[in-house]
Amino acid sequence: MSPKTQPDVTLRRALPEDCPECARICYEAFATISRSHGFPPDLPSPEAAAGVFSALVSTPGLYCVVAESEGRIVGSNCLDERSKIGGVGPITVDPDAQNLGIGRKLMQAAMDRAHQQGVAGMRLVQAAFHNRSLSLYSSLGFDVREPLSCLQGRTLQRAIPGFTVRPAQSTDLDACNALSRQVHGFDRRAELAQVLQQGAARVVEREGRITGYATALAFFGHATAETNPDLQSLIASAESFGGPGIMVPTRNAALFRWCLSNGLRVVQPMTLMSIGLYTEPAGAWLPSIMF
Ligand SMILES: CC(C)(COP(=O)(O)OP(=O)(O)OC[C@H]1O[C@@H](n2cnc3c(N)ncnc32)[C@H](O)[C@@H]1OP(=O)(O)O)[C@@H](O)C(=O)NCCC(=O)NCCS
Repeated sequence: MSPKTQPDVTLRRALPEDCPECARICYEAFATISRSHGFPPDLPSPEAAAGVFSALVSTPGLYCVVAESEGRIVGSNCLDERSKIGGVGPITVDPDAQNLGIGRKLMQAAMDRAHQQGVAGMRLVQAAFHNRSLSLYSSLGFDVREPLSCLQGRTLQRAIPGFTVRPAQSTDLDACNALSRQVHGFDRRAELAQVLQQGAARVVEREGRITGYATALAFFGHATAETNPDLQSLIASAESFGGPGIMVPTRNAALFRWCLSNGLRVVQPMTLMSIGLYTEPAGAWLPSIMF
């Protein structure tokens, strides 16, 4: 079999007008790979992909790049550069242009940008069943850090006595950021400030102080807490989880079993990977699809 030739590709920063085509590719790429493995698509429709993409391109602190070949967009990638740890994704290449080196170039662009921005490390979350993305990220230097289980449903237990969950307010910023530093060892202030203003975040209080937060109980949200019961209170407060679900670190066996015994169902296995600085978390947490 003759090797496929690598196409000429140019990379540039994504513009708002690129959103419809990037969203189409994003939807097609995820739907194709998920379908071929018998999993539901990460994004339910091209319209949902369009919503995600325009949010990514318009959020301050996110850097999105597109790959073009023969005058058309063939893929895109994003870097969350709002903290000292950079988050990568979603990266997608048009299904008819995959396996030709474009994904590697898009990853390298995000890594070069992160390096210029002075990040201490980078993270991403990949679908564990996807051989190609696992191989690509590993060969670029990313290490597997944590197996994750994407879970969906509504917990049978709706609250935990002694823990109060309430909507987060802008005045909770310092407490939430302190939790990020305590559990993960890095500041997430810029992202938290944006999210708290949007009004969808929640905090949990125990004995009069904030012991956990969730930017959203969703694929595109992360949560950080001192203990499993703090995180369980946040999870139990959600009627459902946004997108495919929340991602529970499977090695947190007590939390994972609590989720299962509460009726949550596994949607798909995923993997957290990192390059550069990685501090083993000291607490309970759920990553977002970005990290
Ligand atoms: C993942 C994705 C972005 C990669 O982009 P791509 O252009 O197809 O990938 P590339 O051709 O640049 O690189 C793929 C690499 O994996 C290697 N590879 C592919 N299948 C492999 C396998 N089964 N085992 C080992 N290596 C494999 C290729 O040889 C290539 O390595 P090389 O660069 O050393 O030659 C793209 O396939 C895609 O959009 N997939 C669907 C959406 C998705 O899953 N996105 C990732 C979300 S985390």
